[in-house]
Amino acid sequence: MQTEKKSALEALEKEVSLCRGCSLCQTRTQTVFGRGNAEASLLLIGEAPGESEDREGKPFVGAAGMLLDHYLAFIGLEEEDYYIANILKCRPPHHRDPKPEEEEACMPFLRSQVRILNPKIIICLGRIAAQRIISPDFRITRSHGEWFRRGGIRVMATFHPSALLRDPSKKEAALDDFKKIAEEFSALQNETANI
Ligand code: URA
Repeated sequence: MQTEKKSALEALEKEVSLCRGCSLCQTRTQTVFGRGNAEASLLLIGEAPGESEDREGKPFVGAAGMLLDHYLAFIGLEEEDYYIANILKCRPPHHRDPKPEEEEACMPFLRSQVRILNPKIIICLGRIAAQRIISPDFRITRSHGEWFRRGGIRVMATFHPSALLRDPSKKEAALDDFKKIAEEFSALQNETANI
């Protein structure tokens, strides 16, 4: 079914695909907008497309994405239950971090996505997303798994799945964060079921 949200997202995706707002447009294969269910109450926000995402045009389809899928499946969530997007819509070359001016240029697109999706829960995957969405001085090691509120939305940050691939000793802590996400998600389902 073509819902209002889906049409609005499609229009925004078209706009993003034409963006020449920063120099990443010169090196991208294509823009990477988002994937998942536009009607879902849970929005996951990563950093930026990597090589696989740049090639396939969808976020989190490489090794980090496979690990993320594994964590989401562990807490019983399927793609139907969430939408996923990134701070940047274009791949920064050579696995480097996004530059502040690239984030500035791209954030209006993410803000529009959030307005359209109207999520109840946002999960920031990694430091880059957490510092943009929660607080510029956010420290993942200190504050992962804590709930915050931003504009009426429940927001949490957890480790970026690439960080878990680099340092498996963080996996247990990440699993605890995902259990908290599952609790919040099912509390929300129960709330809406009782309306
Ligand atoms: N890392 C991200 O932050 N986003 C992706 O889409 C893939 C890897």
